[in-house]
This record gives sequence, structure tokens and C-alpha cells, in this order.
Amino acid sequence: MTKSVLITGASRGLGAGMARHFAERGFKLALTARDASSLAQLQAELATQSPQVIVKSLDVSAFDTIPAVVTECAGELGGLDIVVVNAGVAIAAASGKGSFQSMRETIDINLIGAIATADAAVELFREQGRGQLVGITSVAALRGMKRQGAYSASKAGFSKYLEAVRCETVGEDITVTELAPGYIDTDLNRSLASRPFLVSAEKGTGIMVDLIERGVGFRYVPPWPWALVAQVMKVLPVALLRRM
Ligand SMILES: NC(=O)c1ccc[n+]([C@@H]2O[C@H](COP(=O)([O-])OP(=O)(O)OC[C@H]3O[C@@H](n4cnc5c(N)ncnc54)[C@H](OP(=O)(O)O)[C@@H]3O)[C@@H](O)[C@H]2O)c1
Repeated sequence: MTKSVLITGASRGLGAGMARHFAERGFKLALTARDASSLAQLQAELATQSPQVIVKSLDVSAFDTIPAVVTECAGELGGLDIVVVNAGVAIAAASGKGSFQSMRETIDINLIGAIATADAAVELFREQGRGQLVGITSVAALRGMKRQGAYSASKAGFSKYLEAVRCETVGEDITVTELAPGYIDTDLNRSLASRPFLVSAEKGTGIMVDLIERGVGFRYVPPWPWALVAQVMKVLPVALLRRM
């Protein structure tokens, strides 16, 4: 049977990349983001590969609008097998430098918006009797990264939320997958001075879609070398962490 996937933040970057890989694999797609014209372009590009592509404008910081969009997409695609909670921002903002509004925006989109999307997805999955929730976190969830305090906090918070959902859905036909990318080449990180172990968006999103289809619980992306680097990051003293 043809499977369907909803992706938030699908207008560019990892969301658009995953959409291309899912389309190649014959999935029906619900693509959401704020930028309606980029979504329309992607819809036209993927129309010949995917059996059905629908697009919806969605700002995940407008929390109350999320459940209706998820329900509409499920209605139009005949249910949703997978919801990928991907929309996110990474705004550099150091503490005590007047950047609180940027930090709040980061938390609103990456944490509260992500939780609101995941909550709507789990409710839908319970009605359907099945489904897979996919949350995109980050290696930045491992530690509080310099000038990325709100970003690290948002990703660590969402990671813990996903773990709680995993605990709550034991015994139900609901899979919870957390993918924590390292550095995948997108607009999100192009301004950074250093992007260790960088992989292309094409490669990185191919790995992500493979992992999602396998129904893994948690993986770094790419898994190697990040599974090893993560163990080092966890114990790095602040004197070294501050240089990253
Ligand atoms: N690239 C990496 O190396 C990397 C590493 C770790 C984690 N991640 C995570 O992966 C996810 C995707 O990142 P990316 O690299 O693809 O970034 P990106 O190229 O900047 O794309 C971000 C996507 O999120 C959407 N978005 C931003 N704010 C939104 C909002 N308020 N409501 C709805 N959609 C919103 C954007 O669409 P609109 O602007 O059209 O709304 C866009 O489609 C993020 O959660 C990011 O934290 C990425």
C-alpha cells in the first residue's frame, strides 16, 4: 500500500531533501512550511514521482493552527503513516547581549512548535491505530554550545519530549524515531566558521530517510563518526567545549 508522510519545514534544506527521497520511494507527501512559493515549486518538481503531493502553509510557532493542518493532511492523503517534525531555526545569540527575542523565537519554533506538532501527530496516530513520529534534534542537544544556548536547549528539550512519548506509547503501534544530525550542508549552518564531518544535503537526507524507513529509535546523522564523537563531546571539559 502507498505510504504517506507529512514533513514540517519542507520548503528547503533537510525537509525538502527528505521530501525528494520519499518521493523517489513512492510516498504520498504533505509538505508544510511558511514559504508558500517554495512549497509550490517543490510540489511541481515532485508531482511526476510521487502519487500525490499536497502543500500547506504552516508556521509552527502559531501553535494552535497545527492540529487542524495535521488533520487536513491526513484527510486529503487517506491517513498519515509518518510525521517528520523537522521545522527549525538556528539563530546565533549569546547571553546578556540583548538577544532574548531571538532566543525566544528559537524556543517557540524548535521546542514548543515541535512539541505541538508531535502532540497532534500522536493524537492522529492513536485515532488511526498506528503511525511513526520522527523528531529532528541535533548533536547540539548533547551540550550547551557557545552562542547557541537557546538552540541547544530547544533540541535537548525536544529530545527528552520524544523519549517521554516513547515511554507513553509502549504497547501501541506507534514508533518514535529521533534523528540527531551533525553538520549537513544547508542554509542553517553555511555561515559557521567550522562544520566538522560535513555531508551534502543529498547524502544526509538519503541517510535520514533510510533510517526512518528502518524505524530506528535514535541515530546520529551520519551515524559515523558522530556516534563516537558524541561520546567525546559528552565528557569534554568546558575549557575545550568553549572552543567548538
Ligand atoms: N543542517 C544541519 O546540519 C542540521 C544539524 C542539526 C539539526 N538540524 C535540524 O534540522 C532541521 C532542518 O534544518 P535545515 O538544515 O534544513 O535548515 P534550513 O535549511 O534553514 O530549513 C529550515 C526549514 O524550517 C522551516 N521553518 C523555519 N521556521 C519555521 C516556522 N516558524 N514554521 C514552519 N517552518 C519553519 C523553513 O521553512 P520556512 O522558512 O518556509 O517556514 C525551512 O523549510 C532543523 O530542525 C534543524 O535544527 C539541521
